Amino acid sequence: MRRILVTGAAGQIGSELVPALRERYGESNVVATDIRRAEGGLVESGPFELLDCTDGHALDDAVRRHRVDTIYHLAALLSATAERDPRLAYDINMGGLVAVLEVARAHGCAVFTPSSIAAFGPTTPPDPTPQDTIQRPTTIYGVTKVAGELLCDYYHLRFGVDTRGVRYPGLISHVALPGGGTTDYAVDIFYHALESGRYACFLAEDTQLDMMYMPDAVRAAIEVMEADPVRLRHRNAFNITAMQLTPGRLAAEIRKHLPDFTIEYVVDPVRQAIAESWPRRIDDTAAREEWGWAPRYGLEAMTVDMLTQLAKKLGRSLAPAR
Ligand SMILES: NC(=O)c1ccc[n+]([C@@H]2O[C@H](COP(=O)([O-])OP(=O)(O)OC[C@H]3O[C@@H](n4cnc5c(N)ncnc54)[C@H](O)[C@@H]3O)[C@@H](O)[C@H]2O)c1
Repeated sequence: MRRILVTGAAGQIGSELVPALRERYGESNVVATDIRRAEGGLVESGPFELLDCTDGHALDDAVRRHRVDTIYHLAALLSATAERDPRLAYDINMGGLVAVLEVARAHGCAVFTPSSIAAFGPTTPPDPTPQDTIQRPTTIYGVTKVAGELLCDYYHLRFGVDTRGVRYPGLISHVALPGGGTTDYAVDIFYHALESGRYACFLAEDTQLDMMYMPDAVRAAIEVMEADPVRLRHRNAFNITAMQLTPGRLAAEIRKHLPDFTIEYVVDPVRQAIAESWPRRIDDTAAREEWGWAPRYGLEAMTVDMLTQLAKKLGRSLAPAR
């Protein structure tokens, strides 16, 4: 049985990963931590502590007190937020990871760290993007993700720390709102479709990026940490994907359920430039071969579930507004 500590647990991924980990490993065996107080389920269903992941002493203390053997390190600033304050993003993304890896080295913990499609850049082959390829990102977020991948591999090679990670694509979910990424439109669009029937999208209609529904993302985080290490030729970090979306394609799918839904494009040059520096489709063959990765949700199934869950949450009807 694992004893797990999650950093950045109140965010978009943590809000769904923590309940899944608690269901699998036992409620009291999963300590959720964040720099801000979490709401609802996270605090009610098991231990929660305020913790700044860049504070190595506090992290060390929490790992000791709870006899933690596995750290899921989710705390980070995401792409669009990071671009507004690159120095802060560097301090949190790199400072947090170094603190986590040092504590893991001292206490023999395994570490899961999510990387991102942002670890690629404009000189990366965009379609398909191989597992091992050029990584010269042009965002501060991407710089911290590549450096983080290398640091995690280094701690594995040099100190034997069991570090593993995945390169998440844009994540679509209905529990917590996204934290300021370039793919947030794919979540916002559902709220606006149900609430007003209209959406002004900050990316251009044909901007194609990899995406994944949160239940698949949560399962990937658990499965890669449970994978047989003997089979792993890669560690930090595995390409994984579930679908390739453009705003136009997603709007058309939503319109199958809400025929009056309309979308316009009010492009934000900063986020459009970030999106254009990322792959159009990543190749996740290595994850499939080395630990059996396979997504369960494509565009149709994800759209039905998002609309159903959000309609319930917002108290809206799925019948088209007339
Ligand atoms: N959501 C996505 O689409 C996506 C895609 C690729 C990779 N990722 C990666 O997954 C991880 C989690 O992402 P998310 O979407 O849940 O992000 P999020 O922004 O929703 O949540 C991050 C959490 O980290 C917390 N945090 C910030 N600074 C902290 C600090 N110093 N100490 C402790 N906590 C701190 C925030 O309060 C927040 O709750 C990140 O590493 C992110 O880069 C996310």
